[in-house]
Amino acid sequence: MFAIILGTRPEIIKMSPLIRSCEKQGIDYFVLHTGQHYSYEMDRVFFEDLRLPAPRYNLDVGSGSHAVQTGAIMAGVEKILAEEKPEVVLVQGDTNTVLAGTLAASKCYVRGPQKLPVEVGHVEAGLRSFDRTMPEEINRIIADHVADYCFAPTEVAKKNLLHEGIDEKKIVVTGNTIVDAVRQNVVLSNESGNTLKNLGLSEKGYFLVTLHRQENVDDKTRLEGIFSALARLHAATGIPMVFPVHPRTEKMIKSFGLDLKGISLIPPQGFLDFLQLESNARMALTDSGGVQEETCILGVPCVTIRDSTERPETVAVGANIVAGVSPENIIKAAGTMLEKQDSWENPFGDGNAGDKILHSICSEI
Ligand code: UD1
Ligand code: UDP
Repeated sequence: MFAIILGTRPEIIKMSPLIRSCEKQGIDYFVLHTGQHYSYEMDRVFFEDLRLPAPRYNLDVGSGSHAVQTGAIMAGVEKILAEEKPEVVLVQGDTNTVLAGTLAASKCYVRGPQKLPVEVGHVEAGLRSFDRTMPEEINRIIADHVADYCFAPTEVAKKNLLHEGIDEKKIVVTGNTIVDAVRQNVVLSNESGNTLKNLGLSEKGYFLVTLHRQENVDDKTRLEGIFSALARLHAATGIPMVFPVHPRTEKMIKSFGLDLKGISLIPPQGFLDFLQLESNARMALTDSGGVQEETCILGVPCVTIRDSTERPETVAVGANIVAGVSPENIIKAAGTMLEKQDSWENPFGDGNAGDKILHSICSEI
């Protein structure tokens, strides 16, 4: 039996192809939601949009400092694994849910009659920004080194793992499950939704903005600088700018008392509405990992408002520029990306990553 552990918006989206495959193939599994994300628009809306069954468990850990959140997830996961005794736990990405799920599972001795530790499969293994000031980088490194299966989305990710001495036998290059999720939903999102119309936007007639990284939004000077660049870009181009705001960012905008010019703030969107916004955008400006991938897959130019990326494949194919956070560099990068044609290759696989991952584990256990 598998346990699929997830807790945040991107994990629900990127685990959805695996959950669908388990359902389709009659594989014995259950979903354990940690409750790291819990607001309707960060959590339940994705189960509805992606038509996923409700999780068997929800730890409801909610928000907290890194240690409080990680500790609460570990304690909750340990208890459930002890009861359910799965053979393999699957985690995805680089959140505190991944760190805590991996650590708890790998020390839970309940597998089989010999009471071996539960095996851990890390989906989206091997990504590296090489910036250890990001909490996500710490989480990725630990998860990869503890995991029994590292499902690397690309050869670049595999190389990172080999470079850190991880046994090649543990690594399988599968593509990224985000390709599966985009392909399974993009047509539906454009056929069924009215998001553009409701927001008064036209195809390729607006910029899409997302920001939520701790290092960007919890720092007043940095956040102010980013918003000033976006305001200048809007003033220079006259192109509308739409920004579905992550709750963390909304909280910080309020607490810093920032006054945003030229940017339309809207609530976080469900996956189908967001995909419609993303696939029709003239360009995205973002610090999200998933948005860098999705824009690359959808042929939408991207400017990454960060000092580094763990998705260098997007830059290599010409879909993305890592601009840093200075207003001048953001504006310059936006100018360059506005000239780009959407003629690059998708480096993240053929949309069958979910099936490849399940096949790979099922042939081992
Ligand atoms: C987390 C992940 C980040 C991932 C992001 C996806 C970690 C360390 N960070 O960041 O890697 O990119 O999720 O979106 O795991 N909040 C709500 N409602 C919610 C969830 C959060 O209001 O449903 C607010 C709370 O004020 C909370 C803040 O957002 O304190 C931050 O939430 P948290 O889960 O700690 O980190 P994220 O910024 O969401
Ligand atoms: N997303 C969404 N609605 C939004 C913003 C993002 O559905 O309003 C989706 C997006 O399509 C992508 C994922 O959320 O699949 C990215 O999540 P996020 O940016 O929060 O986290 P990251 O990928 O940086 O970890």
